[in-house]
Amino acid sequence: MFWCCYKRTTFKNNDINDYDFIENIGYGTFGDIKLVLKNNKYYAMKITMKYQPQNANEIKYLKLCNHPNIISLIDVKETDVNYKIILKYYPNGDLFDYSYNNTLDEMCVKKIIFNILLPLKYMQNNKLVHLDLKPENLLLGGKNKFQTVLTDLGCVHKFNKINSLQKLNFIVGTKYYNSPEIKSLSFHSNSDVWNIGLITDILLTQELNFDRDIHDIFNPNVINFILFKLNISEDAKDFISECLIVNPNNRSNIDQLLEHVWLKK
Ligand SMILES: Nc1ncnc2c1ncn2[C@@H]1O[C@H](COP(=O)(O)OP(=O)(O)OP(=O)(O)O)[C@@H](O)[C@H]1O
Ligand SMILES: [Mg+2]
Repeated sequence: MFWCCYKRTTFKNNDINDYDFIENIGYGTFGDIKLVLKNNKYYAMKITMKYQPQNANEIKYLKLCNHPNIISLIDVKETDVNYKIILKYYPNGDLFDYSYNNTLDEMCVKKIIFNILLPLKYMQNNKLVHLDLKPENLLLGGKNKFQTVLTDLGCVHKFNKINSLQKLNFIVGTKYYNSPEIKSLSFHSNSDVWNIGLITDILLTQELNFDRDIHDIFNPNVINFILFKLNISEDAKDFISECLIVNPNNRSNIDQLLEHVWLKK
């Protein structure tokens, strides 16, 4: 997230008020995620600094979003300098670690991608885009192993109009996953769809095939050439290519992806 900006911040364990600290479970760009215990229940506590605007943004959208596949906010505590965001705890980790350690066949990947599209559709209906969609921000532990829960809402933006570019004040997201329009400091109702294409590739191949430090991946011929070489089904290639269309107006939207033949079969 915010690959160009801030230094990482570490917090002392006595910062966590009336919750008992158990262990650190995650290290994000903006602070640590701690496993904490209160009244015999485990929670995840994300401690962030107030001066960073995306941290207030995250709290705003955590309060607004209410969907079974979006992280549940339990409480927010604040001091003069930081927020302590108490979230529902997901003990099975995130999709990055899971996909790194497990080979997933196409049928599993289809189910996972379908389940990632559901909260995105809810967000679209509320004119919201996530803008930092990546396997690390998808926690495992819904009702079954294909269910993921979308977290890390710090980059969420509201769009005014479907299919139009809107200005960003600063770069958001994560370099590998960011859509071409983010690089040009704008976003679009279809921006998250680009990330879906890259996540699908990672889950199917366990590789980062679209590294922009190596390939000119905003060139459609380069995208097609990379896809051509992948050992995945033609339908899966078509699905990914529908996501990786450089002009966001021509890219598939979430509804079209949900109807794609690859997910339907
Ligand atoms: N509720 C939770 N339950 C279990 N693990 C969590 C939870 N929230 C976060 N984590 C773990 O902590 C990691 C970092 O959390 P998060 O993405 O919210 O922090 P961040 O600082 O915004 O991260 P980054 O900047 O790296 O995207 C996640 O990738 C996940 O592995
Ligand atoms: Mg994150």
